[in-house]
Amino acid sequence: MSNKMWGGRFGEGPDRIMEEINASIGFDQRFFAQDIRGSKAHCAMLAETGIISRADADQIVAGLDAVLAEIESGKFVFKRELEDIHMNVESRLADLIGAAAGRLHTARSRNDQVALDFKLYIRDTIDHLDEQLAAFQSALIDRAEEHAATIMPGFTHLQTAQPVTFGHHCLAYVEMAARDRSRLRDARKRLNESPLGAAALAGTSFPIDRERTAKELGFDRPTRNSLDSVSDRDFVLETLSAAAIAATHLSRLAEEIVIWSTPGFNFIRLPDGYTTGSSIMPQKRNPDAAELVRAKTGRVIGGLTTLLIVMKGLPLAYSKDMQEDKEAAFDALDALSLSLAAMTGMVATLTVNETAMRAAASRGFSTATDLADWLVRSLGLPFRQAHHVTGALVAKAEKKGVDLDGLSLAEMREAEPGITDEVYSVLGVDNSVASRTSFGGTAPDNVRAAAAWWRKELERNAT
Ligand code: ARG
Repeated sequence: MSNKMWGGRFGEGPDRIMEEINASIGFDQRFFAQDIRGSKAHCAMLAETGIISRADADQIVAGLDAVLAEIESGKFVFKRELEDIHMNVESRLADLIGAAAGRLHTARSRNDQVALDFKLYIRDTIDHLDEQLAAFQSALIDRAEEHAATIMPGFTHLQTAQPVTFGHHCLAYVEMAARDRSRLRDARKRLNESPLGAAALAGTSFPIDRERTAKELGFDRPTRNSLDSVSDRDFVLETLSAAAIAATHLSRLAEEIVIWSTPGFNFIRLPDGYTTGSSIMPQKRNPDAAELVRAKTGRVIGGLTTLLIVMKGLPLAYSKDMQEDKEAAFDALDALSLSLAAMTGMVATLTVNETAMRAAASRGFSTATDLADWLVRSLGLPFRQAHHVTGALVAKAEKKGVDLDGLSLAEMREAEPGITDEVYSVLGVDNSVASRTSFGGTAPDNVRAAAAWWRKELERNAT
């Protein structure tokens, strides 16, 4: 049988393989709510402009509501031979209300319809991700307040660099999540133009009111060029780019959680709820959730790459290639959403081992910079020379198997005769951290102030 929606000039139905490769209903059924919302707005506009009768419009809207109810209650039967969500909904509408259903598609094409549905879907998804990112930030701010003065080693090259506070480390991720939110909101602003009414590619000869449907659907305005309207997927690309960066941030924290929870570090303990055991090694507590977040980043970046490749070199306007935009985007955005939920859960529930963090911060000559700075401040040495003297003292301590404060004053003076015992006051990790009061520095008072600032910012920026 030929397709009842577009089969007028077709004698036969599609080959079985053609049907399989052509159908998108398996994945675009997610658009059902957006599709019906868009159709209702289109129908109301068609009636208002006199393109269809009020009686037909009333029937169509009631019918669409009935279809929506069927889908929501799980009673709707999606049919692959009807290709996609648009034709599944319209065909069922025809079963329910008869001939009037055929008037809904006046002045519209599936090309502007799918662009509209996807925009509405992406807009909802951005709003949801924004809320999730805010919850992630909130969990991090809680831990930052609690651990504003908890000392841990700060690393560069994963080598002990200088002591920092755990609170400061948490707030670094709050900053990243804020940029992620800002990128997503920015994408949302740009996407918020309605493609509905662009029709197949050229616009329509019917006297439609695109301003009206745009407003009805929460858009700022209609898109300006019909060709661009049906061939644009920038809004997905931008969202996936922002998502890829956000997922990359999560993967870095995930990696840190993996490292921190190994017995070698022992900085944190994940709750049972976020770890798994080994079937052979009874002592194991594996950070699977963190590892999976780290790995799912691949899906998000992959989704972006897939869509860039699908769009690359496509001539205007719509090509069926563009049907391949959906699965990659859904998979990527679902992965990010789940990863955010898991990371928020882990951040909120992990236990911090303050003793182990402090002990690690005290090892590895983490206050060598404080010693060099003291030589500059108290003895007036040029920084480069202070760096050299400190290097010699680190070598001496290393040889002796002690930390910097384990060297005697006499040993210190062998390297620099001007050193006094006042130097010991800068060698402790607490002193070191407390002295980092420059704007954006790790001093506990700074961290408390930054956490309070973020708390307010989060309230101000609530969706
Ligand atoms: N299922 C299609 C998609 O996802 C809808 C648009 C179809 N348009 C067309 N001219 N065949 O892109």
